[in-house]
Amino acid sequence: MTTKEIPVAKGLPLIGNLVPLIQNPYQFFVKTYQKLGPLYRVRVPGRVMTILGGPEANMFVSQKEMIDCLTTYEVYGDLVKELGMSLLVALEGEPHRRCRKITEQFLSPDKIAQYVKPIIQATLDFSKDWQLGQRVELTHLMEKPICTQLALAFLSTIPGDYCEDIITSFSTIVKVIVAKGFQSRQGLNPELHTSKYLTAKKRTLAFIQEIINERRKAIPVTDNPDMLDTLLTITHADGQPLTEYDIFSFMALPLFSALDTSARTVPFLLYEILKNPEIHEQVMAEVNTAFANGIPNIEDIKKMKILRWAVMETLRMYPIGFLVQRYVKHPFDFAEYKVESGQIIYIALGISHFLPEFYPEPHTFDVERYGSLRQEHKQPGAFAPFGFGAHTCAGARLAEVQLMLTVATLLYAVHPQLDPPTYTLKTAFFSKDSPIPLRVKGGFYIKINRKSPLVSQPSLVELRR
Ligand code: HEM
Repeated sequence: MTTKEIPVAKGLPLIGNLVPLIQNPYQFFVKTYQKLGPLYRVRVPGRVMTILGGPEANMFVSQKEMIDCLTTYEVYGDLVKELGMSLLVALEGEPHRRCRKITEQFLSPDKIAQYVKPIIQATLDFSKDWQLGQRVELTHLMEKPICTQLALAFLSTIPGDYCEDIITSFSTIVKVIVAKGFQSRQGLNPELHTSKYLTAKKRTLAFIQEIINERRKAIPVTDNPDMLDTLLTITHADGQPLTEYDIFSFMALPLFSALDTSARTVPFLLYEILKNPEIHEQVMAEVNTAFANGIPNIEDIKKMKILRWAVMETLRMYPIGFLVQRYVKHPFDFAEYKVESGQIIYIALGISHFLPEFYPEPHTFDVERYGSLRQEHKQPGAFAPFGFGAHTCAGARLAEVQLMLTVATLLYAVHPQLDPPTYTLKTAFFSKDSPIPLRVKGGFYIKINRKSPLVSQPSLVELRR
């Protein structure tokens, strides 16, 4: 019989746990887990949040039986309605399985191998106007090249000025959804009614429609179809072609998925490499080998072991998806407690990333954790940067390659250094202009030390099909 009351974190009258939650939610969630265990409640004005976290929770929510219990439409449905398209993460059951299968076609190892060149070219193009000695603020710059990389790879399209619209419309909506999860206030959000947002959304949708219309005029006959060619030719199991709504929805993948994930992670990865001279040297040796004969291919990328470990260590120490929300559709028992249905709960995937029993000295950037002798991430429930269960990140493999390629290309192309060299990164949480809690605080500057001849390779327009 599960009758125990779920423990509540100690806080102040009225404001509850608001202060530590705003200052450093990751640290607060980890410390509270260490005090109260894998299920607890925290309070903010007007609401009580139920948190499930730690390795045992990561394993528990990954079980097949939990798929119908913890659902996502109630979390992401507003995003779907506002965008006017379906999103994989908001689907459940059979529709989710069907769409996930189609999505996975575009994220297979063979497809990812083909995306290497466009990803590198878009990164080179991004850095082509930088001058030797120039100081570049990187934190707010990465969305554009990241969006361009995937639009070029998946849709053979260069979004150009539309990037700004895609970024503005998506980040505004996500910010509203994330904020809603932490506030008691419901209802209309003024940010979704500003002319800046409405124009950006209109232009984003027009841009997608324009690419579809153009392609419909002449679907290329090719052995190597891109995502849009495939979407325009495949059918559902009953033989019906995909609807315009379906096609729009799948196209969100390359345009939106990496904006608040890969783009946010690149500055952390680059910072940690530049800050650690030994790792920097090892990574540079790998990068120089990979680029020795021009643009590398996927086999060259796979040989970059230290860079891959640096990506994993960055995903552990800076988990963008630290917290995901779920709606409890059916009540369930966990760790002697009952979790009632009809509420949103928060799964703190990233708690286990900071537990010293899994990762000794968890706040130290240590790439050797992933070497064959230690393999700390392989302990059950210990490593969850890409989520869990049915909705685990469909783009995880691509994300790792994208992060490696983006940073390898920048390192090779412009030999950046931290500016000033003594710069120490600070993280910040919850800002008025960031949809994702975790971000670099203030500016993160690099100084351009070299321009590789690769930077002046053919322009993106020449690469487009
Ligand atoms: C650093 C990079 C990334 C991180 C940390 C990340 C993390 C995550 C997490 C935590 C989820 C689960 C969300 C939830 O359960 O509520 C997720 C879902 C998803 N991600 Fe990623 N992601 C990254 C990059 C990407 C990229 C590059 C793509 C595709 C181009 C992608 C596509 C998706 C999709 C389609 C889903 C929904 C899967 C489903 O519901 O079946 N992600 N991601």
